[in-house]
Amino acid sequence: MKHTSVKDLLNNTKTLQEVTAKGWVRTFRNNQFIALNDGSTLQNIQCVVDFENTPETTLKRITTGAAVCVTGTLQESQGKGQNVEIQVSKIEILGDSDAEKYPMQPKKHSLEFLRENAHLRVRTNAFSAIMRVRSTLAFAVHQYFQENGFFYVNTPIITGSDAEGAGEMFRVTALPFDNTPRTEDGKVNFKEDFFGKETNLTVSGQLEAETFAMGLGKVYTFGPTFRAENSNTSRHLAEFWMIEPEVAFNDLDANMDLAEDFIKYVIKYTVDKCGEDLKFLEGRLLEEEKAKPQAERSEMNLLEKLNFVMENNFKRVSYTEAIDILRDSTPNKKKKFNYLINEWGADLQSEHERFLVEKHFKCPVILFDYPAKIKAFYMRLNDNTEPGKETVRAMDILFPGIGEIVGGSQREERLDVLIEKMKAIGIEEEELWWYLDTRRFGTAVHSGFGLGFERLVLFVTGMGNIRDVIPFPRTPMNAEF
Ligand code: 4AD
Ligand code: MG
Repeated sequence: MKHTSVKDLLNNTKTLQEVTAKGWVRTFRNNQFIALNDGSTLQNIQCVVDFENTPETTLKRITTGAAVCVTGTLQESQGKGQNVEIQVSKIEILGDSDAEKYPMQPKKHSLEFLRENAHLRVRTNAFSAIMRVRSTLAFAVHQYFQENGFFYVNTPIITGSDAEGAGEMFRVTALPFDNTPRTEDGKVNFKEDFFGKETNLTVSGQLEAETFAMGLGKVYTFGPTFRAENSNTSRHLAEFWMIEPEVAFNDLDANMDLAEDFIKYVIKYTVDKCGEDLKFLEGRLLEEEKAKPQAERSEMNLLEKLNFVMENNFKRVSYTEAIDILRDSTPNKKKKFNYLINEWGADLQSEHERFLVEKHFKCPVILFDYPAKIKAFYMRLNDNTEPGKETVRAMDILFPGIGEIVGGSQREERLDVLIEKMKAIGIEEEELWWYLDTRRFGTAVHSGFGLGFERLVLFVTGMGNIRDVIPFPRTPMNAEF
């Protein structure tokens, strides 16, 4: 018999019909009440077993974690918090689960424990809620761009170039199968390996997306990117998903408008669709907050925070203004913020970003016009800047509790300036000849940005560690699953 999802069953008001449900047992109380979950929704459906007419051997197999198929009558429930339940007439155990050994016990587990069981954590309320929110956000990303005339491009995962010029790449090589060219001492000759050149996992699809924007006009990528940065923080992954729109004829201001509009749209879409999951995650967060000292507690709960972002303008501030604010906020005494920056030209540390967003402006901030020296080679050099104080048309969006969520820029469209900047950091013209062709043939102002998808999921779910918003996190010394 066809089965119905728990979500559809719970929304059904037509009782007294025969239904079938399949899912995993969360709990089995009093030899009678199964709380059944199938992942379609946060809620379990209660299935009432007729224990007098069910063989003891079957009852024993209704254990936490077991997969079951129940058939019965959908009826109004007397129980609190549920409209309907299934009065079971037939139960089949599809897959047994040894309750003693099953790691996902019906209690609250620590996030660390769940990370060690990344293959099973999706069977918990918190993690299934996060994954449903993640899926909805991903759909919203496509919907936004598709509704706004963008085309989805799939940029390569294996590349010969370092889009960020930061050298944080994972090398790709074929296994030394028999006909792989080898050096005299028998080692694989890398230079003559599979592709005949050194290749890496992509750090960003931007350069390829730029070539597409210069033909399709408005494009976006949404795919996995890889960084071999040894940052063991709660905001960094070695493998993460990035969304990168690129638009011909957009300048930096239009780029900021796009990023702000896009972020607000996807958050709104997800708040509208995932209310129940977000309420649950908000409750989780509230409990966590209660454990903190008063002074460190967040002023807003999760949904208030999301509403705030949707309803208020992001504050746009130049790097130079930000440095002035940081310097002015730095007391000379050996006090808390004494480590804040006071030198123009240095990159902002996460403490500085947090200060600007959480203490000073108390809203998302778009910082723009960064010093050229601390930003990537492809960014548009600002006209009329002082020698030694050159800035580029860069923008970073900083979010409360997250820090940098977006990095983007207007691109350097002038061939000679771009070649000059590449030379300065040792990138040969031949290496990026195809990229330079966009500037040789019909160059134009264009802009784009990259949004780290997991950082967005972190913000929307209110979670504190990026390892908890991606199914199988990749971090230094950790690729177990
Ligand atoms: O600022 P990034 O390095 O910018 C680029 O890669 C540009 N090519 C994007 C573009 O203009 N098309 O990275 C963009 C965003 C960051 O703001 C951050 O949200 C995320 O990607 N990100 C990471 N997320 C998780 N783990 C990491 N290791 C990340 N590194 C960057
Ligand atoms: Mg960045």
